[in-house]
Amino acid sequence: MAASTATGAPSGARVLVVGSGGREHALAAAIAASPKVATVAFAGGPNAGLEAIAERIAPERIEEVAPSFDLTVIGPEAPLADGLADRLRAAGLVVFGPSQAAAQLEASKAFTKEICTRAGVPTAKAAICDTLEEALAAVRRMGAPIVVKADGLAAGKGVVLADTLEEAERAVSVCFDGAFGAAGARVVLEERLEGPEVSLFALSDGKCVRPLATARDYKRAFDGDRGPNTGGMGAVSPAPGFSDAERDAAMDTIVRPSLATLAADGIDYVGVLYAGLMLTREGPKLIEYNVRFGDPECQVIFPRLGADAYEVLYATATGNLADMKLTTEDGAAVGVVVAAEGYPAAVRKDEVIRGLDAVSAAGATVYHAGTRPDGELVLSNGGRVLTVVATGPDVAAARKTVYDALAHLDWPGGRMRRDIAG
Ligand code: AMP
Ligand code: GLY
Repeated sequence: MAASTATGAPSGARVLVVGSGGREHALAAAIAASPKVATVAFAGGPNAGLEAIAERIAPERIEEVAPSFDLTVIGPEAPLADGLADRLRAAGLVVFGPSQAAAQLEASKAFTKEICTRAGVPTAKAAICDTLEEALAAVRRMGAPIVVKADGLAAGKGVVLADTLEEAERAVSVCFDGAFGAAGARVVLEERLEGPEVSLFALSDGKCVRPLATARDYKRAFDGDRGPNTGGMGAVSPAPGFSDAERDAAMDTIVRPSLATLAADGIDYVGVLYAGLMLTREGPKLIEYNVRFGDPECQVIFPRLGADAYEVLYATATGNLADMKLTTEDGAAVGVVVAAEGYPAAVRKDEVIRGLDAVSAAGATVYHAGTRPDGELVLSNGGRVLTVVATGPDVAAARKTVYDALAHLDWPGGRMRRDIAG
């Protein structure tokens, strides 16, 4: 039998990461760095960076191969909302990631509103509407500006910040016309909050809830927070202007009461909870929950983890989080996404990316998101293609290192924001 550590995590371990983006590359790299891990595999599409450190498994084979792994870490929300964690746990496996019932915190905004109301969590006032007529009446009652959200998972496209009643009415009609399929069959209308946004990440093992580092991501495509929303063009950790004391207070007013209310309904949360907060004049308010790590936030959180990533994830998956030494390194991490020209709209693929070794040699870490290997070459294969990350004693130092390193990247078709963490 393999030797176990203090947290019960076996040595010589085999770990499976579900997903194949930049977030999963960062997770797999952190897990592979553990002296207790022998093998890492990932399930998903091609990714030149992941394939250099982990065996690739076809997503259709996850449930077949998972029993040969000591731990399965589920990266994206879709398999969680689909109940993958439940099916693997039913087979007796150790899984990092919440159940389908708990994943409703991301998969249904109406569900989250109801939990928040019962838990007394500060959040935007909202109306949940099941018909077009109901929603139009609520829009007129609430007035503009107003936020219109499709209830379900809409790949980040289901939210409209409407400045006028007409815009809000149009957004509501688009939802009920089926633009988001079943995700838009119910609409959540919210008062518009104002303030900087921060991302708070907490681990929960079903009993114990503990914070990780905070982060801020940069959602807009272009410098100066202009242009369309994207999955995220960069991230910085810690979130500027959000102290550890404020983070701990938000854990107590937002995260812990939400998870306690879920638990009272018989739903234990196991995994990471990502709280998107807005720092309003009345204090932090919850904008949304996600039931997974952020991408690219994950890429700036793990480099600052002052603990063995494999042991932390294993302890969370097995109810041993309270025993875990869990600290965050001082200093900061800055991550810059390099996207294909045109992202978030259609992009060209199969362009050769050179200079990656020189970027690394300049002190940055390259996480691959949309790449594929082709012999010795790395080709672009998606919208967000790389996240390049550097750490440093403070944000300014990390920022300088990452942008200096990026000067060595040789990919004419790549585009990045120049103002991440600026
Ligand atoms: P969500 O998918 O709920 O995170 O919304 C996407 C983005 O829309 C958030 O990151 C915020 O920037 C913005 N947003 C969502 N809800 C509100 C709100 N009630 N007030 C202001 N901005 C919001
Ligand atoms: N970067 C935002 C997200 O992962 O949802």
